[in-house]
Amino acid sequence: MPDIGFVNGRFMPLREAMVPVEDRGFQFGDGVYEVIRTYCGAPFQLEAHLARLERSARAIELPLSFTSQEWARYVVEGIRIGGYAESKVYIQLTRGVAPREHQFPASVRPTTVMTVREMHSVDARLRTQGVGVLTMEDLRWGRCDIKSVNLLANVMARQRAHLAGAFEAVFVRGGEVTEGAVSNVMVVMQGALVTEPEGERILSGVTRDVALTLARKEGVAVQERPIGLDELRGADEMFLTGTTVEILPVVRVDDAVVGSGKPGDITKMLYDRFQRSLGS
Ligand code: PDD
Repeated sequence: MPDIGFVNGRFMPLREAMVPVEDRGFQFGDGVYEVIRTYCGAPFQLEAHLARLERSARAIELPLSFTSQEWARYVVEGIRIGGYAESKVYIQLTRGVAPREHQFPASVRPTTVMTVREMHSVDARLRTQGVGVLTMEDLRWGRCDIKSVNLLANVMARQRAHLAGAFEAVFVRGGEVTEGAVSNVMVVMQGALVTEPEGERILSGVTRDVALTLARKEGVAVQERPIGLDELRGADEMFLTGTTVEILPVVRVDDAVVGSGKPGDITKMLYDRFQRSLGS
């Protein structure tokens, strides 16, 4: 089965899916997106992802072509047509196709794109050994809570991290750690789980929310407050959360080792509970 594309309500093989050059997503990055993965073939936290898609669209005054119920049906249908053991679904909405002018076009149909590809989990070795991250100044705009398709700063950051041999870029704003280029950041200090609070400096991660709920259920104290860069370097444990990384231990920040240099106990416990909550 080929990878699946979906443009404005119609499914097709991905290689046949096209968007015109004048699409505002291409011209301006004027759009929003979501990434959803499956476990055991079922979309994970679909309602939460679709609710965030609605919030992102509303924040940029983008009318939605489909309701969340319609999206849910399309997502499930795309996964079924793809036929993969596990799928990764991208939904991208842009302000549509119009001659290039910054202001919104008067009346134009938003472009609606979905792709379905096979989902490959993070290499098991990275999960057991932990990964390294590279910290850098957060050069993104002031509304990181909107899941905008305009990802240039994230792309540049992740490339820098990649060239330095690190798995993820971790952003620092005003001396405080915000999040990763594709993930949220959590640390364990004196037994408490600490992470940047929801707000305009981070994306409200769906996996972040799942991890915090699991931590609270296990009696781990949760502090949603900014993390100083100096604190990060002295943390006992650190991990990333996200749809693609799940709960991924971090054992190196720049040139410094985190905690014992091995995935921490609370991190491992949370990953275990996360897996168990999926029924796998
Ligand atoms: N990224 N922060 C940023 C900047 C992200 O791009 C993501 C997700 C997250 C984690 O959010 P969630 O747990 O809802 O996936 C945090 C997706 C996977 C991507 O862009 O591919």
